[in-house]
Amino acid sequence: MSGSPEQERLIAALEHQLEEARSKISALEDQLIDAWQQVTDLRRDSLLQGQRLHQFDRVLSGLTYSADGLMTTKKNTAFLKDPRFQSAYQAAMATGHRIESGNNDGPDLHIEWRIAISCWAAHHARQLDGDFVECGTNTGMISSAICRYLDFNTVPKSFYMFDTFEGIPLDQVAIGEQPEMKAWMNERWYGDCYELARRNFEAFPGVQLVRGRVPESLPTVAIGQVAYLSIDMNVALPERAALEYFWPKMVPGGVVVFDDYGFEDHELQKAAHDEFASAHGLEIFLLPTGQGLLIKP
Ligand SMILES: C[S@@+](CC[C@H](N)C(=O)[O-])C[C@H]1O[C@@H](n2cnc3c(N)ncnc32)[C@H](O)[C@@H]1O
Repeated sequence: MSGSPEQERLIAALEHQLEEARSKISALEDQLIDAWQQVTDLRRDSLLQGQRLHQFDRVLSGLTYSADGLMTTKKNTAFLKDPRFQSAYQAAMATGHRIESGNNDGPDLHIEWRIAISCWAAHHARQLDGDFVECGTNTGMISSAICRYLDFNTVPKSFYMFDTFEGIPLDQVAIGEQPEMKAWMNERWYGDCYELARRNFEAFPGVQLVRGRVPESLPTVAIGQVAYLSIDMNVALPERAALEYFWPKMVPGGVVVFDDYGFEDHELQKAAHDEFASAHGLEIFLLPTGQGLLIKP
C-alpha cells in the first residue's frame, strides 16, 4: 500500500533522520566505551602510583642513614649515638673549615660515616708499631676526630700532617680532573688555613704539621714506620706519589684510607691507586661511603 506522494516524501525524510540518529548513537556509544576505558586506566594507574608512593614512604621512614650520598635502611647505626664518636665528630666539624656540602646545615657536612671509618682505621693502627700520616689536612677535620677519638696524647706515636695549607697546586691537576673546579675550590675552600690548623692541634704535641707541596715535602721530615696513612688531596699525581713513598714504610696490618676513592669525578685518583695496588697483587676495597681501604699484608 502506498500513500500520496506527499506522504512518501515525509516517510523518506523521517527514515533518513532515523538513520542519522542511529549513526550518532553508534558514535556516542564508541566514545562512551573509550571514555570508560580511560577512566579504568586512570583508576589503575593511580592505584599503582599510590602503592608506589606508599612503598617509597615506607623506605623513607625506614632510613637509618641518609647523608654524604649514602642511604641505608635496616643497617645498624648505633655508632652515631656513641658519646665517644659524637665528641670526635663534633671536634671534626668545629675546625673552622670552609668546605660546603649544600645541605644548608652550616659547618656540619654530615660525613659521619666517613669519619667513623677513619676513626676505626686509626683505632686499629694504634695497636701497631709506626706513626700516623695524613696527606691533605686542610683545617684537619678527619684528624681532629681521630685525635679526640683516640685521646691522642695518650698514644705514643707521632702524627704527621702534610698540606700546602693554601690549596691544591694547580700545576699538578690533570685535564681530566676539572682544573677549573679545583681552582674554584682553592679560592672558596682551601685558602690559607695554616694558622687555623696549628691552633686546632696545639693541644696535641704529637702532631706535626708539615707545610709544603707533596711530594716534594715528604722527605723533609724523617719518618720511620707508618701504621696509618690517610690520603685526601683530591688530585691523582700527589696522592699516587704519597702512596708510593709511604708504602715501603708501612708495617704489616697498617691501613691506608683514601678519602675520595669511590666518588664521582675522582676516577683518575682511583685508577692511579688501583694500578699501584694491582702491581702489588692487592685490591683496594671500595666502601659505600666512597672511601677506599687498603691493608698492608
Ligand atoms: C679535601 S682537603 C683535605 C680535607 C682534610 N682531610 C680534612 O679532613 O679536613 C684537600 C687538601 O689537600 C691539600 N693538597 C692538595 N694537593 C696538595 C699537594 N700536592 N701538596 C700538599 N697539599 C695538597 C689542599 O691544600 C687541601 O687542603
